[in-house]
Amino acid sequence: MQPPQANRYRDSWCGELGSDDVGRQVRVAGWVRRRRDHGGLIFIDLRDRSGIVQIVFHPERGDELFALAEQLRPEHVITVSGELLARSAENVNSEMATGAVELTVADAEALASSQTPPFAIDEDGPVDEMTRLRYRWLDLRRDSMQKTMITRALITQTLREQLVARDFLEIETPILTRSTPEGARDFLVPSRINTGAWYALPQSPQLFKQLLMMAGYERYFQIARCFRDEDLRADRQPEFTQLDIEMAFVDEDQVIEVSEAAITAVFAQTGFETAPAPWPRIGYDEAMLRYGSDRPDLRFGLEIKDVSEQLRGSEFKVFESVLSGGGAVRALNAGRREMSRSELDSLNEVVQVHGAKAVAPITVGDGGWTGNLAKFFSAQQIAAVNEELGATDGDLLCFVADSENVAAVAIGALRLNLGARFDLIPEGHCACWVVDFPMFEADEESGGLTALHHPFTAPQGDLDDPESLRSRAYDLVVDGIELGGGSIRINSPDLQSRVFDAIGLDGEEAQARFGFLLEALEYGAPPHGGIAFGLDRIAALVCGHDSIRDVIAFPKTATGADPLTGAPAAADERQLRDLGIKPHVPPAVG
Ligand code: AMO
Repeated sequence: MQPPQANRYRDSWCGELGSDDVGRQVRVAGWVRRRRDHGGLIFIDLRDRSGIVQIVFHPERGDELFALAEQLRPEHVITVSGELLARSAENVNSEMATGAVELTVADAEALASSQTPPFAIDEDGPVDEMTRLRYRWLDLRRDSMQKTMITRALITQTLREQLVARDFLEIETPILTRSTPEGARDFLVPSRINTGAWYALPQSPQLFKQLLMMAGYERYFQIARCFRDEDLRADRQPEFTQLDIEMAFVDEDQVIEVSEAAITAVFAQTGFETAPAPWPRIGYDEAMLRYGSDRPDLRFGLEIKDVSEQLRGSEFKVFESVLSGGGAVRALNAGRREMSRSELDSLNEVVQVHGAKAVAPITVGDGGWTGNLAKFFSAQQIAAVNEELGATDGDLLCFVADSENVAAVAIGALRLNLGARFDLIPEGHCACWVVDFPMFEADEESGGLTALHHPFTAPQGDLDDPESLRSRAYDLVVDGIELGGGSIRINSPDLQSRVFDAIGLDGEEAQARFGFLLEALEYGAPPHGGIAFGLDRIAALVCGHDSIRDVIAFPKTATGADPLTGAPAAADERQLRDLGIKPHVPPAVG
């Protein structure tokens, strides 16, 4: 860090003092991390953002000064000055960056006292998450949180530098806007001036960045807040941050190239090691088949095979009825594994979450299969499956039979479960692009089609056969986590209208919701495309956190609440009256 601006509080950073400063008079300020009374002396670890330094109060320096030291407790705030001394060899603390020196206090002033914190700030022991969020300002003081927030700031800064160096312009887009659909519900904000009308908070800046391309800005980026009212998980927050990018006159390759440069720089800055870019591109169908997921974790094998053809016509009724109904049997070779009956049974639960009925486990022995399922299959079928799965004696084979989609996703979940269970995931990280997504998927709610990415994504293929259409979309996946996704966009009003039509938005509704986009497309819209990365997910990944809550300064809980401020809260009656709102139900919160 640069030296602090010298003033009456400090002229040096605690964590930057070292042997070069020995003999200097220094002044530091910060929080008491720990206090120890020792042989008549009082030792304090003083902490500021840069780190910790040991300060020592000697009784012979005066009663007043020593009395002040005796009153200090963890998290009190003080400023002290004195001479920096080298510690004697036996007192050097090699665990501490400033462990070779200590400051002998000649002058001190207490600046603020503190109540006893509800958890220890000086150690990283487990603390209940609600308590951490309720006292977030204390939680953020902890060493691990500071490191994370500093890394996150470094990530943002690196991304900015990378894009600015490539002529991207940082442009802000509105927060109070119309709906920008990304597959979640909108958060709505009532307008007081236009009583009865509502703004939607953006699920992403998607439409505005496209308009910026139509406006001729060529290369745009934004560190953008996005809002989605959806079920929350460890990797989802109702408000989150995207690095949003859009480029004009490009195909997939240019967007992917810029993305790889920016993300590679982040990985290099944070010491996160992957194979160098360009990263492999995997088609959606292949990812679903081999890994049972459109966010494949490529750090380990355990690849899935389709063994429908090898097993067709067996005596095993379960497989036969699935296969004759147009379904599939997918399998993986888990290798030589000892699993008890109850462990094998527990695998059923893993696939049942994804709609499959069960896992059929079979062990290979004496060139054939052992166990009670073996009798249903011919020697030829067994040999063919063994060959497909590269199976040898002792291997455990796992089968899932269901409709193609269910079987794929269910055995994909099983693959991840076995990978973690048997510790098959090696050190290191693996990035890949998933491409050639279907344009549409079935919408369970409406029974019609919905866009798999968003409806502004350019399709590839025959528009008269919407179900077979692919899209020009791409997702960046690292270690099984979707870090970002984007696409080449539609730049023709006719094509855009046809895609709206395919997802059941008739002309009138399309005009009402997206008329401004359709109109802009009539005025010389260049070919364009872009991408958005989840900044929270990038930070969680490189900092080694499972939950993005750990990399957001003030996150929400899994129920969307903020225990610190008490949001969301009831609005007072006058506010509601001004907005013309009459609640149908009493608020669920205080
Ligand atoms: P998409 O919806 O895939 O694409 O979002 C892009 C990336 O944002 C992150 N993300 C989230 N992070 C935390 N909490 C959430 N609720 C959440 N939802 C998404 C993910 C995801 O990969 N407009 C398009 C991008 C484009 O086409 O350019 C979009 O928003 O990391």
